[in-house]
Amino acid sequence: MLSAERIPNNVDLSGNKRLQRALEHWQPKYLQWWRDMGPQGFQDYHQVYVRTAISVDPKGWAHFEYVKLPEYRWGIFLADPVQDRRIGFGDFHGQPVWQEVPGEFRNQLRRLVVTQGDTEPASVEQQRWLGQRCPSLYDLRNLFQVNVEEGRHLWAMVYLLHSHFGRDGRDEAEELLERQSGNRDKPRILEAFNEPIENWLDFFMFTMFTDRDGKSQLMSLSESSLDPLARTTRFMLTEEAHHMFVGETGVARILERTCELMKASGFAEDVRKLGGIDLPTIQKHINLWVSLSLDLHGGEVSTNAASYFANGLKGRAQEDRYEDHTVSDTYYRLETVEDGRVLAKEVPMRTAMNEVLRDWYVKDCQGGITRWNRILERHGISDRLRLPDRKFNRGIGQFRGLHFDPYGQPLSPEEWQRRKHEWLPSPADKAYLLSIQNEPVYEPGKFANYIAPPRRGINGLPINFEYVRTEM
Ligand SMILES: [Fe+2]
Ligand SMILES: [Fe+2]
Repeated sequence: MLSAERIPNNVDLSGNKRLQRALEHWQPKYLQWWRDMGPQGFQDYHQVYVRTAISVDPKGWAHFEYVKLPEYRWGIFLADPVQDRRIGFGDFHGQPVWQEVPGEFRNQLRRLVVTQGDTEPASVEQQRWLGQRCPSLYDLRNLFQVNVEEGRHLWAMVYLLHSHFGRDGRDEAEELLERQSGNRDKPRILEAFNEPIENWLDFFMFTMFTDRDGKSQLMSLSESSLDPLARTTRFMLTEEAHHMFVGETGVARILERTCELMKASGFAEDVRKLGGIDLPTIQKHINLWVSLSLDLHGGEVSTNAASYFANGLKGRAQEDRYEDHTVSDTYYRLETVEDGRVLAKEVPMRTAMNEVLRDWYVKDCQGGITRWNRILERHGISDRLRLPDRKFNRGIGQFRGLHFDPYGQPLSPEEWQRRKHEWLPSPADKAYLLSIQNEPVYEPGKFANYIAPPRRGINGLPINFEYVRTEM
């Protein structure tokens, strides 16, 4: 069995015997979960060139080495404390931050930690079959890098549960390994984490848009008055950046290849005839994963969000950007629907905190779309990708149950049924994507036909480096 020394940490684990015992008790269950629900077919005989977090020093926080996935050193790291840190927003603005969980906010804080924690193993479960269809060893390694770090993010949340929430926290830590993505009886908490990720276009869109929701949630939690939560999430953001890099560059490389194929065919051939992924299919996947990820930000008007803000539990992304940190008498102008008509309505700003974060998120996504469009532009192709309107395909909040096209125009239920596969992946689209991903590419330096090679390799290594090697 692994021991605590094998859990890299900067929380003085060996000096806290009670916590060390609790985590040692949880660790074998985690490893069993990883074997059962982690990357399928890549547990025992493969070594993966991954980075492992070993400290929080910005100049050298990680090192790279080959490891067998179950032997990855999942560690616990909190960003360095900020001297005399003060509560940055809400009713307790200006008071010292908390090192322990205040009794009156215990349930709310536990819920925030559990909801965040639940997403981490969920994504590993969603992605567990992708290794069998990978477009290259480089991409396979990136998938596993994301997977092991989501595993570490679970460790980070479990550390908080064990160290600050007593018995309830220990029970919650167990349940994080018991719920399963897509399971009918015990699903994961949030819906986007129950959707299967069957192909690599889904994977890249997920890491681009759903990991980016992770970023906005972590940014707002890193403002929290509960200092250990703030410090944990701040360090998680360091790893999250690479996940979004994988998503953004993955789609960019598909686009690059699509443009090449379009040009090679003189724009006459259907790109699918050449084994590529056509632009409409890419746009449909943007529509799907953006709408699912918009839902993750919660309802537009939310008393929970208001109370998280008032109590200083969850702030806004980059709270420093704002001048007013109590936000007690300002209003948010919200797009809403009444009697089938879209109109604007003023709501108290604190109740609109989910929407404020969603605004930040949409803007961050738009940056990525703009960068992708530059690839089309560079190839002289006039098509453009775009974000769907935020009313499109929503399952949470005031637009749930209503129908809009990606431009925000209302549709009747019949029209939606008839036309939805113009905007969302159809069964035929999915079948096509699986058909071109049937054969995994495991040869160093080789790439599937539908994706261009990256510009450079990992950690200064060449693109044809053997990022995943078989060890029999
Ligand atoms: Fe994560
Ligand atoms: Fe992530």
